[in-house]
Amino acid sequence: MISASRSQPVKRSRWDNLLEGSVVGSFTSLGYTVRSQAWDDVDTSSLAGKTALITGATSGIGRRVATELALSGARLRFVARNPRKAEDLKRELRDLSAGGDIDYYLADLSEIANVRRVADEILFAEPTIHLLINNAVVLPATRMVTPEGLEMAHATNLVAPFVLTNSLIPRLVESQPARIINVISGGMYAQGLALDDLNYKRGTYRGSVAYARAKRGLMVLTKMWGADLADSGVVVHATHPGWVDTPGVATSIPTFHRVMGPWLRSTEQGADTILWLATADLPGTTTGKLWHDRAERPEYRLGVGTETATDREKLWSLLEESVASVPTPTCC
Ligand SMILES: NC(=O)c1ccc[n+]([C@@H]2O[C@H](COP(=O)([O-])OP(=O)(O)OC[C@H]3O[C@@H](n4cnc5c(N)ncnc54)[C@H](OP(=O)(O)O)[C@@H]3O)[C@@H](O)[C@H]2O)c1
Repeated sequence: MISASRSQPVKRSRWDNLLEGSVVGSFTSLGYTVRSQAWDDVDTSSLAGKTALITGATSGIGRRVATELALSGARLRFVARNPRKAEDLKRELRDLSAGGDIDYYLADLSEIANVRRVADEILFAEPTIHLLINNAVVLPATRMVTPEGLEMAHATNLVAPFVLTNSLIPRLVESQPARIINVISGGMYAQGLALDDLNYKRGTYRGSVAYARAKRGLMVLTKMWGADLADSGVVVHATHPGWVDTPGVATSIPTFHRVMGPWLRSTEQGADTILWLATADLPGTTTGKLWHDRAERPEYRLGVGTETATDREKLWSLLEESVASVPTPTCC
């Protein structure tokens, strides 16, 4: 049995503690290089034959994680929106893993109807799910609204994992022990939930703010799922991968990418803690926490973005309302 409140203390080196005081030191390749001195390689062999599902596998960190999952012998399933990229990735990973059990589902996760549909397809086709990684992300340059009326970053980065995870939880519980990993971002340290404006209708729109609010929301959901699933055999983790050189960063925040270029992490480094959370013993015994570089990290810095229990409940009910506003298609 796993208790949400019973999180084991993680022993950290003096260097790690020093790095934690500096966002730049902690999130760059410097932080990874210093901390990883004490680590063994992640052992993914426990995933062989297990079903692992990941979103956002066609690029960046997700692509690296998917590659390692394929090599581990897991039954790899990924959700992608672009059929050509999905087929290319499937072929590449099958070749790499010498014919591994790899397949994909197609869905644009910015639309609730698609997320529901793909969740139904997954539930129909997959008798087990042992690992769910919510990794897909968008950081829009300008405010965009989905056909369902939601702001794009909110829809893709928060509503989609809310719907997908809630739909798949029963299958994860049946498959226990199972793990859910939500890839969030240190960007959330600068933002709270913005419960009165989840769709960012007010003020000057900034994609990085919309992104960070959604990631804050996903952190809050991680805690809520962690508590709800405490005795179910399913653990839930959030992780910040650090600042990683990915196509998404290069396109969405080009100035940051240029300035930080030499200090950005490789995708291998960005994938490390996700794979560790998926496989190591310690994260199998704790739930509802934030991890970075294989250690539990604080959810807030300088008291920014804190929320109350009432805020958490409010977020959940607002997300439920959004989902309920999209009609479920009547069949046939
Ligand atoms: N890179 C960093 O420095 C950094 C820092 C902090 C946190 N993170 C987190 O790490 C994760 C991966 O980031 P990344 O930099 O690797 O991202 P990325 O290179 O931009 O890749 C994003 C992935 O999400 C998919 N995606 C986007 N919108 C989608 C939609 N509507 N439906 C389905 N799939 C969609 C993309 O598909 P397409 O290939 O079709 O575009 C792609 O596979 C994210 O959760 C991000 O917040 C990254």
